[in-house]
Amino acid sequence: MPEPPDPADPHQPIPHSAPWWRHAVIYQVYPRSFADADGDGIGDLPGVTSRLPYLADLGVDAVWLSPFYVSPMADAGYDVADYRDVDPLFGTLADADELIARAHELGIRVLVDLVPNHTSDEHAWFREALAAGPGSRERARYVFRDGSGPDGSEPPNNWKSVFGGLAWTRVQEADGSPGQWYLHLFDDKQPDLDWRNPEVVEEFHDVLRFWLDRGVDGFRVDVAHSLVKAEGLPDWTVRTGMLGDQGEDGTEDAGEPATTDPRTKELGPMWDQEEVHEIYRGWRRVLEEYNPSGDPDQDRILCAEAWLPSQERTMRYVRPDEMHQAFNFQFLEMSWRAEDVREVVDTSLRAADEVGAPTTWVLSNHDVVRHASRLGLPVGSPRPNGIGAGSEQPNPVLGLRRARAATTLMMALPGSAYVYNGEELGLPDHTALPDRLRQDPAFHRTAGVELGRDGCRVPLPWVADEPSYGFGPGPRSWLPQPLLYGPLAADRQEGVSSSTLELYRTLLRLRREHDLGVGGLHWEGGWGPDVLAFRNAREDGRPVTVVANLGEDLLDLPEGLEVLVASGRLEDGRLPQDTTVWLA
Ligand code: GLC
Repeated sequence: MPEPPDPADPHQPIPHSAPWWRHAVIYQVYPRSFADADGDGIGDLPGVTSRLPYLADLGVDAVWLSPFYVSPMADAGYDVADYRDVDPLFGTLADADELIARAHELGIRVLVDLVPNHTSDEHAWFREALAAGPGSRERARYVFRDGSGPDGSEPPNNWKSVFGGLAWTRVQEADGSPGQWYLHLFDDKQPDLDWRNPEVVEEFHDVLRFWLDRGVDGFRVDVAHSLVKAEGLPDWTVRTGMLGDQGEDGTEDAGEPATTDPRTKELGPMWDQEEVHEIYRGWRRVLEEYNPSGDPDQDRILCAEAWLPSQERTMRYVRPDEMHQAFNFQFLEMSWRAEDVREVVDTSLRAADEVGAPTTWVLSNHDVVRHASRLGLPVGSPRPNGIGAGSEQPNPVLGLRRARAATTLMMALPGSAYVYNGEELGLPDHTALPDRLRQDPAFHRTAGVELGRDGCRVPLPWVADEPSYGFGPGPRSWLPQPLLYGPLAADRQEGVSSSTLELYRTLLRLRREHDLGVGGLHWEGGWGPDVLAFRNAREDGRPVTVVANLGEDLLDLPEGLEVLVASGRLEDGRLPQDTTVWLA
């Protein structure tokens, strides 16, 4: 019988020579909001390229770019009309090549976003499917079905869209008669592909190769757990939602709200089907063709976006012959309580170690309220689906303080960490966007019941004294920037030692210097219930001790250790509430 693992040692160090993706810090660029070179108010690829030196200074290992492909932008580019070209809003293929080349010169790897569950309804395949009619090879690339009811006027089953409303839309046939229905788990402009069709599988191998040939280092895979649907498309009475999104969807036939406890949440027949894993084994083989010698430095990677109820289910996507990484949404969802944080860290490390994958850590992305706002709500509040002028407003000072403490903790954890653009500036969400400016399809499809994700997508402030805070050359920005983005602009924080930008730079530098990404984790005993204390040590190095104080009492720090970095000011050498420190 193997020894049961010591609860104080949930994770052992891995060799210093481990492949880059086991410990990388990966920065998410949301292209429409990062930097606008041409002044149309929407960020673009030349804007990203112009700011790559900033990312090199920040110390990131890689960037992941949200979609920049040709798209009618019904879901901000997650509705792709051509996977092999750049939308004119963002630039050209030559701009993408330039970005990749410049990033590589600066030692930054580039991941692009692949959206395989659905195309845009403006994709050539979908237009062909509409024109070709029922039973055609063209329709077989999507999930078309006849309607139910005597005249086919009812949808084929009762599935609901993640964004609200029905997951089916009826088409008009070429002769003008009411026709078949197509499935869309998201917006009606995002028809789902049929991944049981080998032509779809082939097409995406080809798309992978297209971007690998252009030099990308990997892919973030959008809703990776939804590609295959259960045979027969059985009814499902619980609201279709990704983790944390359950509840009323604002339509009359919303179905029963799902339980909100992610650990007991049942997944519907549209998620996490066994057959999906074979697809990723195929993708892995394509990626490995690009690294025939197996040089770990040359690894191309896949990262799954899969909102699943447990780490165990998620880790099935990163078994040795599948993907490399999966987002750790349990970490993003955790409440700011020491015991909850510890439990998530333990489970994450153990579940990843079981399959030999690295764990990842993430606190913010383009789909959730930024952690500087989220953590400013009372501890234990459910994760909000957008914050508006009429919602309970987060406490911005507390939110930022906790966000800095949470990030300082995260950057000391072994594995790979994700940073969402602007979090290094301590940006909060825009929490009072006027409804008429909201663009998220989820807002419109739920008639405003879900405020949606626009608040975390507001363009970044670079220069406090310029129009649009330096986002672009002119005053335009596709969503208005709140006034408090001015003092948080990058130029105001540069060189200011107490700023969030300098905190991130320091954390990333020290993380690299101390090899924390490949270290082992050992929990330190003897601290109170509101404290997280651990040592991260690599095989041969001096350990870094990390203490996060989530309780009210000021904490004395261990003697003989020097402070490397702290998320906030110490008080007479003692650690105050909502502050994390690294010691060595
Ligand atoms: C993913 C993306 C999200 C998008 C959805 C549909 O969850 O992160 O932004 O709306 O997939 O593509």
